[in-house]
Amino acid sequence: MTSRLAAIATLAALGVAACSSASTPEPDLILYLHDSTFRRSELEQSLVNPDNSYSELRLQHYATGRAGDWDALPVWNPPIVPVRVANLGPNAPASQPLPAGARALAISAAASQGSAAALRALGELAFTRYPVQTLDPGVLALASPSAAARYGLWSDPDAGIGGLVWTRMADGSARLSMTCSTCHARETPDGLAAGLPNASFNLGHLLADAAGDERNALVQAWLAWGPGRLDPASPAGLEPVRIPDLRPVRDELYLQADATVEQRDVASLAIRIETLIVTSQSQVVRPPREVALGLALYLRSLADELPNSEPAPSTPAARGHALFDQSCATCHSPPEYSGPPVAIHVVGTDPVEGRSPERGTGTYRVPSLRGVAARGPLLHDGSLPDLSAMFDSARLDPSYDGGRLGPGAVPGHTFGLELSAGDRAALLDFLKSL
Ligand code: HEC
Ligand code: HEC
Repeated sequence: MTSRLAAIATLAALGVAACSSASTPEPDLILYLHDSTFRRSELEQSLVNPDNSYSELRLQHYATGRAGDWDALPVWNPPIVPVRVANLGPNAPASQPLPAGARALAISAAASQGSAAALRALGELAFTRYPVQTLDPGVLALASPSAAARYGLWSDPDAGIGGLVWTRMADGSARLSMTCSTCHARETPDGLAAGLPNASFNLGHLLADAAGDERNALVQAWLAWGPGRLDPASPAGLEPVRIPDLRPVRDELYLQADATVEQRDVASLAIRIETLIVTSQSQVVRPPREVALGLALYLRSLADELPNSEPAPSTPAARGHALFDQSCATCHSPPEYSGPPVAIHVVGTDPVEGRSPERGTGTYRVPSLRGVAARGPLLHDGSLPDLSAMFDSARLDPSYDGGRLGPGAVPGHTFGLELSAGDRAALLDFLKSL
């Protein structure tokens, strides 16, 4: 507590408290930006299972105050140029000096002083512009518009191609990188939708084509991911998860399919993002803390766009609401439609990810159902395409052919399957209103 107050007092002394009301700094934002004791305590409290390798790595290196800590890494905010439709072609460069016009993200004084509005605006820009991880094989997707489409990269007149950016590296060369939007945005008839998973992005296919050797076990694992799935953690690539929907991230009480991180507040989300970038950059650089916090604030604002209305009385959706309260709300509790994690055997879905030595906690998190109808692949492994498949009892049958990962039964999460066909239809109407 003393160090929190000290950090606020220091910033007040710098004149931060005298800012205009539109950019009044918020204490928790200042603490995340400027107080490593606060960040350490947030990290420790948010890690659900301190013994998995995700937690161990962070506990060892994050805000420890010791030599070799990630806090001592150089801050990385390199100049970038987004890949655009006009750049696609057989000679699209994988690596070259960056063209003129390459710019780093501008970080304003207001952002550094904890103005929520300035940070959120920075996060919105960073979402399509900050290089999270290099992707040299991405050059295969730049050969033509159809190659980009084959690997599931989106195309948008403003944001560019699949959120890929050429990034200036320390040696002056430029390399292709992914941004958050490569995986976490989707092309829709109304334009690019931030937060929806890019269920077409086939990273495994791209990596496999670049590697060539189809007999290699890792290449086979990559090919088995399929669109909208990847393995962010295990060395053998055998624990793929679907890309989640980030629009309701503010309502997720736990982050990552296996509830690795409790989202206590905006700081735990910012730490999740900051440490993701550090590990994606092989622990040699760290992002500006304003970028990680800005991304967290921006992502938490996406839920503002989700519907928030009660179904009209005496409609099927209203009946579905009543059924939901009986059969579902104990786990998916309103208003977040989320809740504490559930033991793997209770939900009964594929256990591999939940037991993962990298991220596992022995449980699956209860995903928020806000916006669920537009989400696309369902369940942590993306094994079902949509809500009608999920609430079709035929999916428990060995002859089922509607799963996304190949023929066969898709077991688990049998809640609601016992209802009559009429009741299930009413339940779906209610889910579509969330
Ligand atoms: C290569 C694809 C990819 C990129 C790039 C990527 N993510 Fe993700 N993201 C994923 C996947 C896959 C998961 C699911 C991980 C899990 O469940 O263990 C995920 C999970 C998350 C989560 C947890 C959400 C939840 O519902 O639990 C957040 C927050 C997040 N990503 C934010 C970001 C941000 C911010 C960036 C950019 C700095 C980013 N991601 C870049 C693929 C990606
Ligand atoms: C015992 C707790 C529990 C109950 C009861 C429950 N759920 Fe779930 N639900 C979960 C968990 C845990 C998951 C995530 C499972 C996974 O990813 O493997 C989930 C996932 C879902 C999903 C997929 C969301 C996504 O993003 O993939 C939907 C839809 C869903 N539940 C709807 C319902 C409905 C409707 C009911 C009532 C008929 C219900 N649930 C009852 C725990 C529960």
